[in-house]
Parts: sequence; structure tokens; C-alpha cells
Amino acid sequence: MNVEIFNYFSKFIEKELGIVYSDFNQFQLQARLEEVAKSLSLPSIEAVYEEVRRGMLESRKQVLLDIATNNETSFFRDKSVFDAIQAILLSDLGKNHKVKIWSAASSYGQEAYSVSMILSELTAQGHAVNGQILATDIAERVLARAKTGRFTQLEVQRGLSAPFMLKYFSTDGEGWWKINATEKQRVSFAKQNLRQSFVSLGTFDIILCRNVLIYQSVEGKKDVVDRMAQILNPGGYLILGSGESLLGLSQNFESKKVNNVIVYQKAALASKLVA
Ligand SMILES: C[S@@+](CC[C@H](N)C(=O)[O-])C[C@H]1O[C@@H](n2cnc3c(N)ncnc32)[C@H](O)[C@@H]1O
Repeated sequence: MNVEIFNYFSKFIEKELGIVYSDFNQFQLQARLEEVAKSLSLPSIEAVYEEVRRGMLESRKQVLLDIATNNETSFFRDKSVFDAIQAILLSDLGKNHKVKIWSAASSYGQEAYSVSMILSELTAQGHAVNGQILATDIAERVLARAKTGRFTQLEVQRGLSAPFMLKYFSTDGEGWWKINATEKQRVSFAKQNLRQSFVSLGTFDIILCRNVLIYQSVEGKKDVVDRMAQILNPGGYLILGSGESLLGLSQNFESKKVNNVIVYQKAALASKLVA
């Protein structure tokens, strides 16, 4: 792939998704564009380039954007974060109302379903905690599968203990593990680009935005987290991936340690920008 084509696609993908492919990631982008060409039955990356420049059909553009994303995830990814979420759910925040949770880059749904399993565990232990989870992603292919609540043997083995696999899933005899109805019905899925307005989503008590901002520029990260602050209820939490931090990115949050995990609570004086 020549420099002109690399520059064109890296700018195109950053504009659409906020994902930055630096020179360092040139081979990764090339491999992804080869996959795009194959999926769109085009002979080469150059042919994809020509089609995008001419103006691509939305459905074909979505294929390109889906393949440009990294959808790596697992159940209870970074377990200590989920212990912190459990502690937050048991705090005042979870009292007297349905806790609204947003999994903002949900990939195949493991993150959202993990939170739903925590809610079931707490209910079984006699805690009066009620929750509702919205899970969103930009990639249609991962959303389509997430909605089914079905996972492969390999996927359930990543992060789930055997007792949780047996308690919250049933097998269909064809190799798939299906999450139980109670844990599934708490989660709804929708397409949402983090670059676009969050206003129609409503407000939340907890937002999980994990392992997605790492691919964005500093300006892109600032824009997303400040708009998330606007749709967090007072006292609400933003939770990032374990290697991520808001340091230098936003004045709208105060960092707090919950069970040894850094989480970000909406600051009382968070600015009122447009979400
Ligand atoms: C690495 S996965 C992280 C999944 C999960 N949050 C976790 O930590 O395991 C990143 C997800 O972010 C999604 N994503 C990337 N850019 C996005 C954007 N601009 N808007 C919405 N989702 C995006 C990708 O499609 C992908 O499924």
C-alpha cells in the first residue's frame, strides 16, 4: 500500500471513528484493508480506495468501518474492575432506584452481560439492587452477535468460572453457550458512534468506556469523556480500562479509589456542555 493510500485511509477512519492508525500501525491497517477488499469482493486495496473516493454505499462503508475496529474482549475482563462495580452498586448509588448503566463500546457483549451477572448475584444475596444496561458499539457485526447472547466454548472459558458458566448459561448441543433470559433481558443493544451526540441515550449512573479510547487522539478522548460527563447523573461514575487514565483530559471528574481500582466520579461542578 503506498503512502498516499495509507494517509487517505488513516484520515478517513479517524474522521469516522476517532481511531488513529499511526505510521507504526501501517501493517495492521494494510491487513485490515486486505480483509475489507475480500469482504467486498474487490480485487485489491487500491480498488477499495477508488470506491471510497467515488462515494461508497452506506452498507459497504459499514463493512469497512467494522473491520477497522478491534473487538477484543472477554467476560469479567480485569476482574478487579468488576469488584469495584459491585461495590459501587452496593453504595448509596444503588439505593432506591434502577441503576442505569451504559457499556459504551460493548463489542460482543461480554462486558454488559458480566455486569448483568453481578446484578443477579447481588439480588440472590438479598440486596435490593436493580439495574438496566444499555450496550452500544459502532460495529454492526459484533452488535448482531451480542444481541443473540450466544458465545462459543472458547469465549465463555475466557473470564468465566465453571460455576458461573453453569449457573448463567445453557448449551444448545451445537457448541454454543446461551446466556439465561434474566441476565439477557437487562441488557439492550444499540448502534452508537462515540463521535456522535449522546443526547438521545438519556442519562446514566455508571458508564463503562473501556479499552476503546486508547485508539483515539488526545483531542478525541477529551471530546468523548466531556460529553459523557454531561449525561452522567450527579454522583455517577465513568470507568475506563485498567491501563487508561483521565489524567490531563477532563476537569469534569474526580478520581476515586474503589476496592483499589481508580474510577472517575462526576465532579459536582461539571461543566454544562452539549452532550
Ligand atoms: C477492544 S473493544 C473493547 C470491548 C470492551 N469494552 C472491553 O473492554 O472488553 C473496543 C470496541 O470499541 C468499538 N469502537 C471503536 N471505535 C468506536 C466508536 N467510534 N464508537 C463506538 N464504538 C467504537 C469497537 O467496535 C470495539 O468493539
